Amino acid sequence: MTSLTYKPSRVVIIGAGAVGTTTAYTLLLRHRATELVLIDVNHKKAMGEALDMNHGLPFVGGVKIWAGDYEDCAGADIIIVTAGASQKPGETRIDLLKRNVGIFQDIIQKITKYNRDGILLIATNPVDILSYVTWKISGWDARRVIGSGTLLDSARFRYLIGSHKEIDPRSIHGHIIGEHGDSELPVWSLANIAGTSLDFDETERNEIFADTKNAASEIINSKGSTSYAIALALDRIVAAILLNESAVLSVSTLLQDTNGVSDIYLGVPSIVDRRGVREILDLPLNDEEKSLFKRSADLLKSEISKLDL
Ligand code: 2OP
Repeated sequence: MTSLTYKPSRVVIIGAGAVGTTTAYTLLLRHRATELVLIDVNHKKAMGEALDMNHGLPFVGGVKIWAGDYEDCAGADIIIVTAGASQKPGETRIDLLKRNVGIFQDIIQKITKYNRDGILLIATNPVDILSYVTWKISGWDARRVIGSGTLLDSARFRYLIGSHKEIDPRSIHGHIIGEHGDSELPVWSLANIAGTSLDFDETERNEIFADTKNAASEIINSKGSTSYAIALALDRIVAAILLNESAVLSVSTLLQDTNGVSDIYLGVPSIVDRRGVREILDLPLNDEEKSLFKRSADLLKSEISKLDL
């Protein structure tokens, strides 16, 4: 007689703030995992959030969700870190660095005490530097330490191009690369719709990129934080991992001679599968893009050199 074996899939979310809870809710609605765990220093808040989502289970089903502790990281397939300070109006992502590195030194040690072979997915800002810091602290294979990178910026870019062209953003191929932050850059030379290049003039290009780059500040100035689109971006990465998709996503990953840049985490189109980042795509950037990419890397390296890692 054959016996059916049930293997639960577990995603742990550290941080039950706007990003963490919206991500949990998105994963819940999409049935991405059979177990979702919320962990927060404010356990009461995590409990309330989990309870609220549990009351939706009669409408959704199929998922166990609870407020847990670091012990629950044991056996988790993916641990998403959203904890830490977030930007206030007028702050840059880099302004958060000192505060959040301190928090990460504590969190990453607690996670890796219980889990050695999952995938760490970092969303806290400044996400590229914190992904690098996580990689260093954890000692894990870099393929299993991934930052949300410029996936969200690329989505904003595709949305804006789609709006200009009145075309579904899913049909737009375009990538923002580099820092998820002020030094990021658009890869106009490779952006296309079904292989046809985009006929924007200089003014239109500048406007689209400025709106992409300033999107987070605009939202933070109006509603205090961003949450929905980043949650969908994290859900996309979780799907690529758990479904072993080999999807091309602009996540933050360790570069090793990628367009002349090494030993830094930056957002670049990468192939994501069950093992994490399988491979980085070697983009044929033009000279201007190459130099902006290098500038973005240098800027983050200089911030990292000030840290006591
Ligand atoms: C965002 O881009 C604030 O990094 C966050 O929405």
